Amino acid sequence: MNNIFGVRIMDDYIRMCEDGVRQGWHERNGGNLTYRMRPEEVEECRPYFRKIPGEWVAMGVQADNLKGEYFISTGSGMFLANVSHEPQNSICIVEINEAGDSYRIVWGLENGGKPTSEFPTHFMNHSIRKEKTKGANRVIYHAHTPNVIALTFVLPLKAEVFTRMLWKSATECCVVFPGGVGVVPWMVPGGADIARATCKEMEKYDAAIWAFHGLFVSGPSFDIAFGLMHTIEKAAQITCIALSCTGGKPLRQTITDDNIRQIGKEFGVTLNEDVLNYGRDYIDEYADDFK
Ligand code: 13P
Ligand code: ZN
Repeated sequence: MNNIFGVRIMDDYIRMCEDGVRQGWHERNGGNLTYRMRPEEVEECRPYFRKIPGEWVAMGVQADNLKGEYFISTGSGMFLANVSHEPQNSICIVEINEAGDSYRIVWGLENGGKPTSEFPTHFMNHSIRKEKTKGANRVIYHAHTPNVIALTFVLPLKAEVFTRMLWKSATECCVVFPGGVGVVPWMVPGGADIARATCKEMEKYDAAIWAFHGLFVSGPSFDIAFGLMHTIEKAAQITCIALSCTGGKPLRQTITDDNIRQIGKEFGVTLNEDVLNYGRDYIDEYADDFK
């Protein structure tokens, strides 16, 4: 191996960007991906780092448990479709300072640029998910998933209602995201406010929907994070198709709460009881709206 693209973690990161593009989730510069590197991965990449790193840049957010960490990040404004063709100009590796409040670019973005505008949100989500998973979480991924976005125009913007609908869209969904999915109302993207609002959801869930915008997921590996994004988006797609088929009438039948509990038991997963105890589906919520 004589360049950074022979390093396994870089190849896996680039492949995940390609996989997301293939799904149609990354129009133009839509979406972004960050990965918290293991120390040995940093050492594998270090020989290819810039001789002189970039300037330290304050992030407007701070995390004690990410001091001195290294992240691979997509560049702001860069097209994910270009990552596999021109990785050195589309992605970067950043180092976090010892105060945990600033980054500097140590590799990549050779034609200039900075990490994703959502870096404050990714960074704070990494902090929360690292803590909640005792260090296992490494990936934060944001995509513009069309069916999830479409559903935010239709369903009440409540985590319990979305989760119940998505769990009931296909039998194995509740096994893939037993903790449920959070929902963040519409907010201006790219700043500290949306970072804080998303973190509040990521304290409880490992995925959060951004109304009229897309989906944020986390995971210990590229496969698990991508699989979570894929499963939630597919569940939303099935929901959209079923709701369209009825022409606005209630669904004739669905997976019941008891069915969900049975699956949880058989598959040995701990389901979010708050979601089951909520007991109201989208149609019950609508009944109130139209009273
Ligand atoms: P970036 O190009 O800055 O990553 O922004 C894309 C995006 O999806 C913002 O939410
Ligand atoms: Zn976005």
